[in-house]
Amino acid sequence: MNVAESQGLAGILEDAGWTKVQNKQDTDLLIFYTCCIRESAEDTVYGNIGAAKAIKKKNPNMIIALGGCMAQKKGTAEKIQRSYGHVDILFGTAHPYRLLDYIDEWQQKKTLYLATNGKRDMDITMPTLHDSKVFAKVNIMNGCDKFCTYCIVPFVRGREVSRNFDSIVEECKQLIQDGYKELTLIGQNVNSYKYNDKNFAQLLDTVSKLPGKFRVKFISPHPQDMSDEVVKLVANNQNVAKVVHLPLQSGSNRILKKMNRTYSRERFMDLVNNIRHNCPECSITTDIMVGFPTENENDFLDTLDIVNRAKFNSIFSFVYSIRSGTPAAKMEGQIDAATKKERIVQLIKLQSTIGQAHASNAVGKVYNALCVQYDNDKALCRTICDKLIILSKDSASIGEFVDIEVTANKNSNLIGKLYKRKII
Ligand code: 5AD
Ligand code: SF4
Repeated sequence: MNVAESQGLAGILEDAGWTKVQNKQDTDLLIFYTCCIRESAEDTVYGNIGAAKAIKKKNPNMIIALGGCMAQKKGTAEKIQRSYGHVDILFGTAHPYRLLDYIDEWQQKKTLYLATNGKRDMDITMPTLHDSKVFAKVNIMNGCDKFCTYCIVPFVRGREVSRNFDSIVEECKQLIQDGYKELTLIGQNVNSYKYNDKNFAQLLDTVSKLPGKFRVKFISPHPQDMSDEVVKLVANNQNVAKVVHLPLQSGSNRILKKMNRTYSRERFMDLVNNIRHNCPECSITTDIMVGFPTENENDFLDTLDIVNRAKFNSIFSFVYSIRSGTPAAKMEGQIDAATKKERIVQLIKLQSTIGQAHASNAVGKVYNALCVQYDNDKALCRTICDKLIILSKDSASIGEFVDIEVTANKNSNLIGKLYKRKII
């Protein structure tokens, strides 16, 4: 989401005549567009803002802005005023598209300009400056109504707002005409998308049937709202990528309840089995957190057990971090850092074995894949089920779909050769 919105900010600036510079030192405007979902993300931003002080000393006319979730978070404005006096503009998640107004306002008043109020209007879109000719992210909704007890997102992004259906379809149509090959529909809870009488399944179906050779994927859905209809679209619509990111968070029913995740481990496994039954080649990935308050050894073993059963294609694993203002921050039974570390190491180790097995399984198979980028003498290609295969650079052009036979698995990196050149 932050990448997409940053591309929107870059688009606004470009339309207004600003140009990109290579070095921070030379810029007239430095924007930090931020995330505060975990403490480590916030620490990184404060480190970067601190480092910008020296740059501004050499270039005093430079404007520094802090935007996004962190700017919206309770207490940030006071902290910035107290300790980071070189920041000029603070703008939250409600109206990033008003960036030029914020700059004007600052230029008139020359004191910290705060713009952290209001409700997001999803019908105002930004003239996105995409950083790739192959991939494009399309924002379909913003905010979250789920209130998982550990999560700060509902407090910094606000309640769910869905974007106009026709406007999304129109943007996707244009992107496909412009040659983009992979569209990702994004939002905090994509599958609770609702615009008038249209739901997420109807949106995905409509976008996937637009004319052209492309794929569409989506991130992130919530297991609670994952309908059979969406599973069927993933399985049956040719242009829908065979990949579902389904955040689990924990394999323990006791912890899931304390997290307010609204599903049980049994219901989650039913969903995984339903996806695999309808679409055996589908890649299923997840988010898992260790060390939620009161998580004991048995709870953690339940998480390892579900990881063993679900055989995820990959896992994004996190150590629980306290986010002030969330219910979990006040819970008794916070887990010590050493135990959290031990658990995450164990989880990563288990997943690495599962990942190896997935990679070995792919050897000898033929996949249609999209060449996404070059890396030295290699062409990196992604299959419709999200496997990354490495080809020699002269085998494919960026943006081309090619058939590849996987010839080897080197430490979970799939190596392939052209099976038969396809003309697009
Ligand atoms: N601590 C650690 N991880 C978190 N996530 C959300 N909130 C926290 C937190 N307080 C993780 C969840 C979510 C992902 C985007 O970030 O796993 O799915
Ligand atoms: Fe956070 Fe839960 Fe909403 Fe995801 S669903 S953004 S984890 S509150």
